[in-house]
Amino acid sequence: FKPSTRSFSIDTSLNMALSQDELKKMVGYKSVDDYVKSGMVVGLGTGSTAYYAVERLGQLLKDGTLEDIVAIPTSIRTKEQAEELGIPLVTLDTHSKLDVAIDGADEVDPDLNLVKGGGGALFREKIVEVCADKFIVIVDESKLCDGLGPGFPLPVEIVPFCHEHTLRTVAALPSLAGCKPVLRMGSSTNNQNDGDEIAVTDNGNYIVDLHFEEPIKDAVKAGEELKNTVGVVEHGLFCGMTTAVIIAGADGISVKE
Ligand code: 5RP
Repeated sequence: FKPSTRSFSIDTSLNMALSQDELKKMVGYKSVDDYVKSGMVVGLGTGSTAYYAVERLGQLLKDGTLEDIVAIPTSIRTKEQAEELGIPLVTLDTHSKLDVAIDGADEVDPDLNLVKGGGGALFREKIVEVCADKFIVIVDESKLCDGLGPGFPLPVEIVPFCHEHTLRTVAALPSLAGCKPVLRMGSSTNNQNDGDEIAVTDNGNYIVDLHFEEPIKDAVKAGEELKNTVGVVEHGLFCGMTTAVIIAGADGISVKE
């Protein structure tokens, strides 16, 4: 790497298959190189792809390529990573408008609508990312889909009070007909379901993952119905928010706007 010149490269000339981690690093670094300028307020996403964007931002601040940046993290995990890298942090309480937010996604459809929340950070991601002038999504090509739903369960954050009732109510919404709701279990909010405890989000809530066999017909309507359900805090459908998606695949990097 040559961080001071903003150039980085992962050599694809030998046509060697890159690991998924290398693909994530490529898009994470490119998002910061292409969309972050000195003086900006930057939203920092959550997950294994966003991790590399945060890492790159830390590098470019450290070597002086970028200056006068403040950032807003979308989870406790990201906050801790940013603090370790010395990235100055603020909150929405002092900065309601962001220049750019960068984050990963679990699914991206042809209209650039997303499913997010596999890492359990969907509420903080959405409240931050709707405030950004530009929302840049970074994915490897495995996240692209023709229709949201069947490829990745849709996470919905719900309050713990009477959560079984809320879970049944959500599953019965007309636009979500046929989904199977599963309360997320585990030691973290990642959807590993690796424990006997109910997973608890950074906000003290639970997550229900909605499993679909068919694509969600109308994601906007599904989002509206979820938002209108008492007990639902937020859902992982991010519709009409994306400015650009940076995609890493076997043939290199492409950008969809
Ligand atoms: C966390 C998210 C993540 O952005 C999403 O799960 C993608 O994560 P990864 O880059 O690790 O695949 O929404 O709540």
